[in-house]
Amino acid sequence: VSLLAHNTFGLPAVAHTLVRIGSDADVRRVVDHPTLGRSPKFVLGGGSNVVLTRDIEAVVLKIEVGGLRIVERREDAVIVEAGAGVGWHELVAWTLDQGEPGLENMALIPGTVGAAPVQNIGAYGLEMADRFESLDAVDLVTGRSVTLDRAACRFGYRDSVFKQALAGKSVITRVRLRLPRPWRPVLDYLDLQRRMAETGHSADPALGPVPDARTLFDWVVAIRRAKLPDPAVIGNAGSFFKNPVVTPEQCRDIITRDPHLVHYPMDDGNYKLAAGWLIDACGWKGKSVGAAAVYEKQALVLVNRGGARGAEVMTLARAIQESVYGRFGIRLEPEPVVV
Ligand code: EPU
Repeated sequence: VSLLAHNTFGLPAVAHTLVRIGSDADVRRVVDHPTLGRSPKFVLGGGSNVVLTRDIEAVVLKIEVGGLRIVERREDAVIVEAGAGVGWHELVAWTLDQGEPGLENMALIPGTVGAAPVQNIGAYGLEMADRFESLDAVDLVTGRSVTLDRAACRFGYRDSVFKQALAGKSVITRVRLRLPRPWRPVLDYLDLQRRMAETGHSADPALGPVPDARTLFDWVVAIRRAKLPDPAVIGNAGSFFKNPVVTPEQCRDIITRDPHLVHYPMDDGNYKLAAGWLIDACGWKGKSVGAAAVYEKQALVLVNRGGARGAEVMTLARAIQESVYGRFGIRLEPEPVVV
C-alpha cells in the first residue's frame, strides 16, 4: 500500500501491510492474529506529524475509530469524547456547534484526535494537556483495553508517555476532554493580543468587548492560514523542530550577541526560544535541498515543493541543525516522528 496520500508531507513510502482499525475489537483481532500478532506495529493517524524516509515493514495500523459525544455536563466542566480517528479540527468545530467552547485556540491543527495526546499538541496559549480528561488505549501485546488519566500520560511540551515508555506499545482509541466552566478566553498569545488591539476587543470588559469563543476560533484560523502552509496544498508536517529550552545564562549570552532573540520565560526559570527565529536568523527562509524547502513565511516549517523524498527533507534538516548549532550553540530537536 502506498503511504503517499497517508502523510501530509506527501513523502513516498510503502507499507507492506496496512490494517484499518475502527474499534478496540479490531486491535484485538490484529494482536490475536497468528502472524500479524507477532510482527512489530506502526500506528498511523492523520499522518500529519511523521517524516517517512523509508518503506515500513511493520504492520501499519490506520486508526479510523469514529464517534463524537458529550459525556457529561457538570457544574465545573463539560466532558466530551471523540474517537481517535476523528479529525482534531472537526472535534473543535463540533464542540463550538454544540455550544461548548474551550478548544478554540487549538483550531485548525492538522491530524487526528488519537494523535493529539502523543505529542500533546498546542497552539496560541493552550495545549491539549490543559483540556485533557482521560483516554482509552489498547495494549499491543496483551490486547487489553486500559484507561489513562492525565498523570499517567506524563504530558510535557510536545511530549507524553506515548513518545517515551509506551512508544509503539499501545493504540489510543478514544480521548475525553474537559472543558472548564465557566468558560474563560485564553488571550495571552501575542498574535491574539494584536487581533484584539486591531478590533477594539479587550480582556477587560470595562475597556472593550471580550472576544467570544467563535471570534477567537475565527482569529486562530485566520492567523494559521496566513502563517502556515495548508498541507492539502503544500506538503508539510507543521513545525519541524521543537522550541529549545535554555538556562538563563545561555539566554543572556545569546542576547548580548543577538539582542532581537525571541525568548519566553518559563515557570521553572529557564527560557524557551523561538526555533523559527533562530533558523530565520541563520538565513534559511526559502532555502532548499532538492524538492525539500524551508517555508518562506515560517522558517520552522519545512515543506515539500513537489516530489520530495524523505532523505532530502532530512538532509535539509541536518544542515539547519548544524548551522543553528554553529551560530548559537543550540541543538534543535525534530518535532515530528522520523521513520
Ligand atoms: N519567528 C521568526 N521567523 C520565523 C518564524 C518565527 O522570527 O521564520 C518568530 C516570530 O516572529 C515569533 C516567534 O518566532 O516571534 C514565534 O513564532 P510563532 O508565534 O509563529 O510560533 P512558533 O514558536 O513558531 C509554536 C508551535 C506551533 C504553534 C504556534 C502557535 C512549536 C514547535 N510550534 O510555533 O505548533 O502553532 O507556536 O502557538 O511549539 C506544531 O507543533 O506543528 C505547530 C505548528
